Amino acid sequence: MSTLSATACAHPNIALAKYWGKREGEGNVPAVPSLSVTLAGMTTTTTVTFDGALASDELSLNGASTDGRPLARASALLDVVRRDAGIDARARIVSANDFPTASGLASSASGFAALALAAVRAAGLDWSVTRVSDLARRSSASAGRSLFGGFVELDGGDGATGTSASVASPSALDLKVLVCVTTEAAKATSSTDGMLLTQRVSPYYPAWLQEAPRLCAKIRAAILAGDFSTVGEYAEKSALAMHACAMAAGIVYVSGATLAALAEVRAMRADGLQTYGTIDAGPHLKCLVRGSDAAAAKERLARVPGVLRILETSPGDGARILPLAEASR
Ligand code: ADP
Ligand code: DP6
Ligand code: CO
Repeated sequence: MSTLSATACAHPNIALAKYWGKREGEGNVPAVPSLSVTLAGMTTTTTVTFDGALASDELSLNGASTDGRPLARASALLDVVRRDAGIDARARIVSANDFPTASGLASSASGFAALALAAVRAAGLDWSVTRVSDLARRSSASAGRSLFGGFVELDGGDGATGTSASVASPSALDLKVLVCVTTEAAKATSSTDGMLLTQRVSPYYPAWLQEAPRLCAKIRAAILAGDFSTVGEYAEKSALAMHACAMAAGIVYVSGATLAALAEVRAMRADGLQTYGTIDAGPHLKCLVRGSDAAAAKERLARVPGVLRILETSPGDGARILPLAEASR
């Protein structure tokens, strides 16, 4: 058989309304709805090549040959594609993230979004973006959202199917996201493991299940109304509620630098800047800031001890296939 190949790129996304915890049963469906913004300025690029000469799937991640759990997760996704396309061949995956991997910057979101799109296209399947998103979500729930650009909701909870859909275009809010990188290292507890432990032992998990849908609805309405400060205020609440719930299970993703950066975000707000903080499952603080305040906020955050560098990102587009000429550059 000849080789079948495609290259895709995708951006990570930051949840304004967090999900944390999985619903019972199959399919990796979140226990609560969530709402994110896709971030241009950080990118995963992935090439998938089905090759009849390969004995097994191979994954090169950031230039290093990778096996174990990352390869098993990627292979499981490829199996779904192979089944639908009637392909037996194993695949070579070559992927790179231009930001720290497995560190709390949503590499699983852009990683599995790019992988799903590249695999589907390499196999010659003509799937809708919603179907590709569903495939990506089964590998990492946040990845379902990165197929779409702008502001994206992922449903969750009883009766939900784990479907992602666009809520508003990237220009719906005058938003910049300053990603304060506080380490280049991978985290000690993966998101998947952190959630499972939280569900099992956090005394606050039932309260989180009650609160998260309310926060998500509030944030959706504020985005649609173009109400920047309400989006920011509730995004900060959502992040802190999620971390409080995880901390009660003994899982601490924040570091001193995270909290110092959050304190600076709040000090800037007291000084009249439109800045709000959010934190995913890792020690990096993301500052949500109105475009006109971004330069001033970046200068102040860069002086916070423990902030190594700042990635300037803004609402961006969903995953896309790269034309051959661009992909080989
Ligand atoms: P993060 O906070 O970066 O999303 P997670 O614990 O959710 O961290 O997921 C990290 C895992 O996602 C990695 O161990 C790997 O399995 C997968 N991953 C990250 N980047 C890629 C990529 N570019 N291609 C395929 N899988 C990836
Ligand atoms: C804190 O989607 O990475 O970023 O489905 O187990 O791969 P898995 O988890 P993942 O968890 C993301 C959690 C979060 C909140 C969010 O993105 O909504
Ligand atoms: Co992740």
